[in-house]
Amino acid sequence: TGRKPLVAGNWKMNFDHLEATYFVQKLAWTLRDARFDYRDCEVALFPSFTSIRSVQVLVEADDLKIRYGAQNVSVTNQGAFTGDISADMLSRLGCSYVIVGHSERRKYHPEDDANIVDQVRAVLAADMTPILCVGESFEERRQGIELDFAVGQVRDVTRDLNEAEAARLIVAYEPVWAIGTGMVATAEAAQDAAQAIREGLAAQFGAKVSDGVRILYGGSVTSRNAGELIAMSDVDGFLVGGASLDVDEMARICRLV
Ligand code: G3H
Repeated sequence: TGRKPLVAGNWKMNFDHLEATYFVQKLAWTLRDARFDYRDCEVALFPSFTSIRSVQVLVEADDLKIRYGAQNVSVTNQGAFTGDISADMLSRLGCSYVIVGHSERRKYHPEDDANIVDQVRAVLAADMTPILCVGESFEERRQGIELDFAVGQVRDVTRDLNEAEAARLIVAYEPVWAIGTGMVATAEAAQDAAQAIREGLAAQFGAKVSDGVRILYGGSVTSRNAGELIAMSDVDGFLVGGASLDVDEMARICRLV
């Protein structure tokens, strides 16, 4: 496909800065021993804000090929916004990516589409890559409207982007019912959703953009199901939650991609 696969480990609210650096070092060694080739697949980790600087120091000191990013970002650039972290701050810490619109952010924080649009813009303006999360809940799946729902979520966030901006996005299709439940989507369902999202992007921005955008699957990915999921033509990698907290499991998933 020409799209370089990405395995992204979203640690959510786990690991302090010591555990984070220990994990990154161990993953790098494990992949090195397995002769893993980062030219075939990008590997990225998403620590808590408090661990990003420690990860940066380690990655730079040992010249590691593992990339990293943040799980969330402020929509504003600086000023009187107590507790917020700006995109510029993250980019200065060497972050390559920022996860935007994760269902847990949409659920536990007042993040709506307008806010998510602004986050995407902030991330792009700081020269990082947004990983835009979409996906239906069990209710939409029950009604059989899951494809329209996910495609609509992407459209609502991207409608004001130009082609050059849209080309820089990564989309993560994460059905909410599959997150942290052990109920992984079937490979066919993941493919159907990824394909529908790609077709939606093609209708908005043209085939050149949609062919290049990477679409990840997320939701109960493990080394037991990653192989058949990645065989799907529109699935370009994974956003891994629980399994990304286990070094050996994360390494196995990377090697399957
Ligand atoms: O960001 C990751 C997803 O929410 C998936 O989490 O692999 O624990 O189901 P999970």
